[in-house]
Amino acid sequence: MVQKLIMDQGLFITFEGIDGSGKSTQSEMLAAKLTQLGHKVVKTREPGGSAGAEMIRSLLVSGDTDRWSPETEILLFTAARRDHLEKTVIPALTLGHIVICDRYVDSTRVYQGVARADLRETVDQLHSIIIQKEPDLTFVIDADPENALARGLARDSGEDRFEDFGLSFQKSLRAGFLDLAKSENHRCHLINGMRAREQIADDIAAIAVSHIA
Ligand SMILES: Nc1ncnc2c1ncn2[C@@H]1O[C@H](COP(=O)(O)OP(=O)(O)OP(=O)(O)O)[C@@H](O)[C@H]1O
Ligand SMILES: [Mg+2]
Repeated sequence: MVQKLIMDQGLFITFEGIDGSGKSTQSEMLAAKLTQLGHKVVKTREPGGSAGAEMIRSLLVSGDTDRWSPETEILLFTAARRDHLEKTVIPALTLGHIVICDRYVDSTRVYQGVARADLRETVDQLHSIIIQKEPDLTFVIDADPENALARGLARDSGEDRFEDFGLSFQKSLRAGFLDLAKSENHRCHLINGMRAREQIADDIAAIAVSHIA
């Protein structure tokens, strides 16, 4: 039987949104703010966040766009997520820490479940068997796809496989994230990412602080 990883302590916060929307910037700023307020914060990311999952990350984010089929991609993301949960997220939550994760299952739901192929049910089935853990709080950063794509590619990070799918792909991702934020509104907060960094960070910090007991 698959060992359950559900854990009810700590606070599990995730950041979601299209490529270049500002997730990494805002997760860093929130981690700094909560640390400054005296909380123990573990900042992590997906795919990656543990030694094994970082190795899987390099398989996923570089190379040709047709390197993996959507089905294979789902399996690789799920394998990376399981390792990340086992090694990083669950141990930190067990200690009562705040975990801030740059992307999580909502990205798989939207990228592989909506924008690349209609495999949402497969994503959800695998999630319920292997992962199960949902975030307590999710910030979905909404950004104009053209602008965000330009921001993202300007970094020249060498991790542009998903950006290389192009603008129409980013537009379907945006629509997917907007739908998801609506259907999961008990935990998702939609954040306007087309503003100054500090303004966005202030809104996010206020919501996060209101969730901390
Ligand atoms: N509010 C903002 N206004 C203008 N530029 C920004 C803003 N937030 C972030 N940026 C810049 O845009 C680029 C993309 O931001 P960031 O790396 O945080 O996005 P991301 O969502 O993590 O992207 P990816 O999905 O590719 O990891 C960076 O160069 C960052 O400095
Ligand atoms: Mg990022």
